[in-house]
Amino acid sequence: MAFDISRRFMLTGAVGASVACAAACTTGPAAVAEAAFPASAPSVDPQILGPRDGVALLSRNENPYGPAPSALKMIEYAGKKGAYYPDIAGQKLAAMIAERHGVTPDMIAITTGSGEALSAIALIYGKKGPIVAPRLFWDTTALYAVNLGLAEIDRVALGSDMSTDLAAIEARVTAGTGLVQLCNPNNPTGLVADPVALKAAVERMSKLATVLVDEAYMELADDPEGNTCIGLIKEGHNVIVSRTFSKIYGMAGIRVGYTISSPETAAKIQSTSMSWISGVGLAAAIGSYDDTAFLDFSKGKIVEGRQMVVTTLDALDLEYLPSQTNFVYFKSGKEANDVQKAMKERKISIRGQYMDYNEWTRVSMGTIEDVEKFCKALPEVIGA
Ligand SMILES: Cc1ncc(COP(=O)(O)O)c(C=O)c1O
Repeated sequence: MAFDISRRFMLTGAVGASVACAAACTTGPAAVAEAAFPASAPSVDPQILGPRDGVALLSRNENPYGPAPSALKMIEYAGKKGAYYPDIAGQKLAAMIAERHGVTPDMIAITTGSGEALSAIALIYGKKGPIVAPRLFWDTTALYAVNLGLAEIDRVALGSDMSTDLAAIEARVTAGTGLVQLCNPNNPTGLVADPVALKAAVERMSKLATVLVDEAYMELADDPEGNTCIGLIKEGHNVIVSRTFSKIYGMAGIRVGYTISSPETAAKIQSTSMSWISGVGLAAAIGSYDDTAFLDFSKGKIVEGRQMVVTTLDALDLEYLPSQTNFVYFKSGKEANDVQKAMKERKISIRGQYMDYNEWTRVSMGTIEDVEKFCKALPEVIGA
């Protein structure tokens, strides 16, 4: 794929964003319309997006500190350019992602959140044979294909420590397997797989079937570089890694994600995706992709919140899994749906029960104040 990236878009990060915005916000056809039709105060309900009525939103693994200011500047810029199809913005973002990971831009597929790519992958590979996956993983997109009658999930029991049992998964993979789907770190457990064992197993399995590693939370792990499976793709193995701007970048509502794979696989994923990603999303991703100051800040807040939760769980002597994500999975000893309901009565939103793990509850990190509300409410909610 050839790229023709204009000099203007070669500017990166916050500096590039503010320069581009300053140019776009004062001139051009949109500015003419703005002068003719000055915007009045918005008449919409300000609560249509985000947490409502002061609820502490700790159920969806979002980063409330986002989007980064560098992304917001580009969103303003992109809004003013909203009359136009996004043109080269997708190529620019693909080039940035490729450069960071040492791959070529044609190995990147950009989609409307990573969820779209994962759904496309489930459709592409699900029809070839079962999707082999750990029993507990983020299965929404595999279920999308299942619900269409286009795939089956072969769930493999977790290890006794609730980790992904790589040996058991590998034992299940044959040439008739459609896809192996792993999530690392896993959701909802928050666990990171042992990197040496994972990479060796993924390499072996990829000789029989395509292996997808969903790395939505990888930037939050203690050692993202050491744990990612992107290196296997560079070595030419049949592996796909997905990433998202919804988590550490704090852009869940803006909907940008991507995959890294061989160029042939990337083309398949891109052509199976159903939507065209918005210029606003692409611009926001371009603006903040290299914003390490914001990323470090976000990770700091997440780790701080996680430590508060862990301290609370320790004080209550509750079992929990060692998370390297922005959520913690813990065993309250009470029915998860009852815990969720009791928290809701206190204006705290957390996850309910997963499968038959009825005493396990997942709480996400939010603002430090909201995590504090959860920590204060927990003893009362579980009757400790
Ligand atoms: C493991 C995992 N992968 C992917 C996604 C999809 O995220 P998005 O479509 O916002 O990129 C989620 C969302 O929570 C997730 O938990």
